[in-house]
Amino acid sequence: MEDDGDRPTWLIEPLGRHHDRAAFSCAKPALDRYLKSQAGQDARRHIAAPFVLVGTPGGKTVLGYYTLSAVGIELGDLPQDVAKKLPRYPIVPATLLGRLAVDRRYRGQGFGEILLMDALHRSFTQSSEIAAAAVLVDAMDEDAWRFYRHFDFIPFPERRDRLFLPMKTVERLFK
Ligand SMILES: CC(C)(COP(=O)(O)OP(=O)(O)OC[C@H]1O[C@@H](n2cnc3c(N)ncnc32)[C@H](O)[C@@H]1OP(=O)(O)O)[C@@H](O)C(=O)NCCC(=O)NCCS
Repeated sequence: MEDDGDRPTWLIEPLGRHHDRAAFSCAKPALDRYLKSQAGQDARRHIAAPFVLVGTPGGKTVLGYYTLSAVGIELGDLPQDVAKKLPRYPIVPATLLGRLAVDRRYRGQGFGEILLMDALHRSFTQSSEIAAAAVLVDAMDEDAWRFYRHFDFIPFPERRDRLFLPMKTVERLFK
């Protein structure tokens, strides 16, 4: 990655054909495979919007990525104290942070947090045009679960691997 003095320079942008994903390795084969062979198709079919973190200027090598999609949450699945602040619609709109990963060579440098904050910020700004009451994640394993708990995501009462942040909380992060 290019350096600006001591500071690494980076950019997060939508995944494009020019991005080099072949060498991406986050040590979780499903997440590597997804980026290499599925993410582009999901983007073209409007199933998920993948965003990649690259070194600048002119970065092509993917250092990390995340995806966002629209999703519905059943009101009854949320903790009661959260649900009672929402209207009694059976399904509440939310944004799904479907996947998030950092190449293992770039771990522990804050890129996971940068990607997460970018995803939350994007979810928040988009929610003024396409409403979403929360950001949802499905933790694929214990390691991922702990990462999201570190950032105060709340587990669903009946489904521990699914966690969320109310958009009100996200809003406070950026206001
Ligand atoms: C989880 C992952 C994204 C973290 O990326 P990273 O760049 O190493 O994380 P950062 O350096 O940005 O860490 C930011 C903070 O999160 C903490 N953190 C990182 N991974 C953590 C984990 N697994 N559990 C708990 N806390 C974690 C760090 O200690 C750091 O805390 P601090 O700022 O208070 O010191 C990365 O390890 C990864 O890609 N793992 C494989 C894929 C994966 O599990 N993705 C998660 C969901 S699909």
